[in-house]
Amino acid sequence: MADQQIDPWSVQAGTDEQGNTLEFDYVAISQKWNTKLIDQNLLERFEKVTGKKPHRWLRRGLFFSHRDFDRILDSYERGDRFFLYTGRGPSSGSMHIGHTIPFEFTRWLQDVFDVPLVIMLTDDEKALFREKLTFEEVMQYSRDNARDIIAMGFDVEKTFIYSDLKYLGGHFLLNAWEFSKLVTFNQVRGAFGFNESTSIGRCFFPSLQCVAAFATSYPEIWGDDPDGDLRSKQTAKIPCLIPMAIDQDPYFRLVRDNSHRMRFPSPKPAIIHSKFLTALQGPGGKMSASNPNSAIFMSDTPNQIKNKINRHAFSGGKETIEEHRKYGGNPDVDVAYQYLTYFEDDDEKLKKIYDEYKSGTLATGDLKKECIALMQGYVKVFQERRNAVTDEVLQQYMKPRKLEWKGNPNPVKLAGTSEAKPEANPMKVANKD
Ligand code: TRP
Repeated sequence: MADQQIDPWSVQAGTDEQGNTLEFDYVAISQKWNTKLIDQNLLERFEKVTGKKPHRWLRRGLFFSHRDFDRILDSYERGDRFFLYTGRGPSSGSMHIGHTIPFEFTRWLQDVFDVPLVIMLTDDEKALFREKLTFEEVMQYSRDNARDIIAMGFDVEKTFIYSDLKYLGGHFLLNAWEFSKLVTFNQVRGAFGFNESTSIGRCFFPSLQCVAAFATSYPEIWGDDPDGDLRSKQTAKIPCLIPMAIDQDPYFRLVRDNSHRMRFPSPKPAIIHSKFLTALQGPGGKMSASNPNSAIFMSDTPNQIKNKINRHAFSGGKETIEEHRKYGGNPDVDVAYQYLTYFEDDDEKLKKIYDEYKSGTLATGDLKKECIALMQGYVKVFQERRNAVTDEVLQQYMKPRKLEWKGNPNPVKLAGTSEAKPEANPMKVANKD
C-alpha cells in the first residue's frame, strides 16, 4: 500500500494492500496543496465575462483546480492587461496526446482572451534532472519540441517560445538572481524534497521557472528597453495566468509566496490546473515515452492509432457480446470512453454514448470505433500543421520581439464612474499606479 506521489519530476498513483494501482485522488492533492476546485459558479462567471461557453475540459473537469483564476476574469472584464505562461521540459521523440493537453487548452485561452503568451522550454531543467542527458542533446530537443508546440496552432503575433539555454539573460536572469536571493535552501527543500547532495544547479533552477511568471522578464514583448539596467515598475504589475498539469504547482507556490517581495513587485500569478490524462492501460496508469502502447503519439499513423485503441485501451465492456447486451458495460472505467470525454465536444452525443454503453446496446467495438475516428482526426490536423513548420517559421516564434494583441474588445465600465474606459485599446495602455 502506498500513497500517490506527485511532484514536478515524478508522478505515481497510489496502490492498495494488494499492490493494485489506484486512481489519482485529485481532491486529496487539491486539499493538500490548498488549491481551489473549479465549480459551477466560476464557470458561469467565465461565460458571463467572456461570452464564450467554457471549454469541454472545464465543463468535464479535466481542468479541475485553480488559484486566483477569478481574479484574471476580473482583469479581463475591466480590460486590463495580463499574459499567459506555460512550458514544457523538452524530451526526446514526439509528444503524446497527454503532452498536448495543456497546449491545446492554452491556445483556446489565448483565442478567448486575445492576450500574449510565453512558452518556456526548460532544456536546462532536463539536462540537470536527467542524469544521462547532455546540454547539447536537450537543446536539440528544444528545437524539435518547439515545432510540435507551434503545430498546436498558436498565433505567431501573440506567442513567444523560448529555450532557456538559448534565451535566458538580461532582465530574465536579473529577476532570477533577485528571486534566488529571497528563497532559502529550506524553502526549496520543502517545495521539492532537495537535500544536501542535490546539485547547486538543481537548487537554483526553480528561480528560472518561477520568474518566468514575471512580465519584467520579457521587456521585448511589452516594448520596454531590453538593454536598459532597470526593469519597468509598470510592467511588473501585469498579471500572469499559468495553465499547467497539477504536478508543476510547487514551483508556483514559491512564486506566489515571494512575488510581492521583488524590488518591482508582481501580483501572485494565477494558475489553472489539469489532471493527468489516463493512459491506455487505464486509470492510474502512466503515458510514457518509453512504452509506445501506453499512449497515442502525435507521430502515430492512423493504423497505429486504431490498433493501439483496439488492442490496448482498457475496456469496461463485458467478456462476451451476449453478456454485454445483457448486463451492459462500465463507461466510467473504459479508456475509449474517457478519451471521448476529452475529444468529443457534443455533450448530448456523449451522454447518449454513455447511456447506451451502460445499458449494453452499444458494443465495445463500436465505442472504440468512435474513439479511433476522433483521435485519428486530432492527430491528422496536428501532423499537417507540423509539416508546415519550416525553419523560418520556427525562428519567427522564437525571436524576442514585441507582441500584438487586443484583449477584451468590450471592457466593462469602471466601478463608481459612469464612463467606459476612454482608451480605444486598453490592453496596450499601461495600468495606472
Ligand atoms: N517544468 C516543466 C516540465 O518539465 C516545464 C515548464 C516550465 C512549465 N514552466 C512551466 C509547465 C509553466 C507548465 C507551466 O514540463
